[in-house]
Amino acid sequence: MDVSIVGAGRVGTALGVRLREAGHRIVAVSGGAATAERARRFLPGVPVVEPADAARGAEVVLIATPDDRIGEACDRIVSAWPSGEGRFVAHVSGATGLGALSSAAALGATVLSIHPLQSFPDVERALARLEGSGMAVTALSEDGFALGERLARDVGGRPFRLADQDRPLYHAAAVFASNYLVAVLSVAEDLFGRLGLERELFLPLARASLDNTAATGAALALTGPAVRGDAGTVERNLRALDRADPKCVPPYTALAAVAIELAERSGRLTPEGRRAVEEVLGRWR
Ligand SMILES: NC(=O)c1ccc[n+]([C@@H]2O[C@H](COP(=O)([O-])OP(=O)(O)OC[C@H]3O[C@@H](n4cnc5c(N)ncnc54)[C@H](OP(=O)(O)O)[C@@H]3O)[C@@H](O)[C@H]2O)c1
Repeated sequence: MDVSIVGAGRVGTALGVRLREAGHRIVAVSGGAATAERARRFLPGVPVVEPADAARGAEVVLIATPDDRIGEACDRIVSAWPSGEGRFVAHVSGATGLGALSSAAALGATVLSIHPLQSFPDVERALARLEGSGMAVTALSEDGFALGERLARDVGGRPFRLADQDRPLYHAAAVFASNYLVAVLSVAEDLFGRLGLERELFLPLARASLDNTAATGAALALTGPAVRGDAGTVERNLRALDRADPKCVPPYTALAAVAIELAERSGRLTPEGRRAVEEVLGRWR
């Protein structure tokens, strides 16, 4: 198919490279000041033009701008079209609904979203990580779903369908799986750092926790004082955190409450153990 990419940044460029390899024609890309150099390197020969010009000759327009710019990019795209009939406009944001593409839908285009459930710090790592990544496809019609699933497979992804109204919760779950995992590890890095211990020393522990979760699911992977109902250890942890860095106390108690739920669900925490740990947590909240 003839595809143009509006916002050929990390994600847009990587999708363009993989779509080209799959036999699609990338007719044009557009973006800001850094986009031309990126296109020269990864999509040689593809013209870099204004969004309206990029969209003019395309059957499929992928919008991969920052989330807040999707609506405005869509408006600029449709300004070039007398009609959207027979055209597809897709964005690649996890948090944004299809409402951001309403100007294209109003003109008769099929609108959809294809969101890679993956973290892409740069184009190279995006290219490496697309293969096998989940790709959430949201559309309002069977045509939209079919195209989204086809493109997702063409870039090496594993498509799954997601309803438009479920996107905010889906994105919140992804934030826990990625951003807050990093945030939690940053607390560990800081606390180990206070003891003069380097990141390499605790990373095997973190990786083993992730591997255990992959192997058995979170409930059975959980170890530690909450599973054991070890209230004395929880109390000692909290006293030490309060002395070293009191701002770590609220995240510790919040995550301990999640761990208690998980431990009970896995049948490994007795009611007495739960009460004892909750009593300690209650004093520190
Ligand atoms: N990165 C990730 O891990 C990831 C994962 C899944 C989904 N996504 C989604 O992918 C989309 C793009 O993210 P990204 O990380 O690829 O961002 P990015 O690397 O910053 O790329 C954004 C692109 O949009 C261009 N741009 C900026 N403002 C624009 C505007 N007003 N009109 C047209 N183009 C504009 C940028 O140009 P210049 O670079 O030239 O300024 C660049 O080409 C977002 O919707 C994001 O939610 C990202």
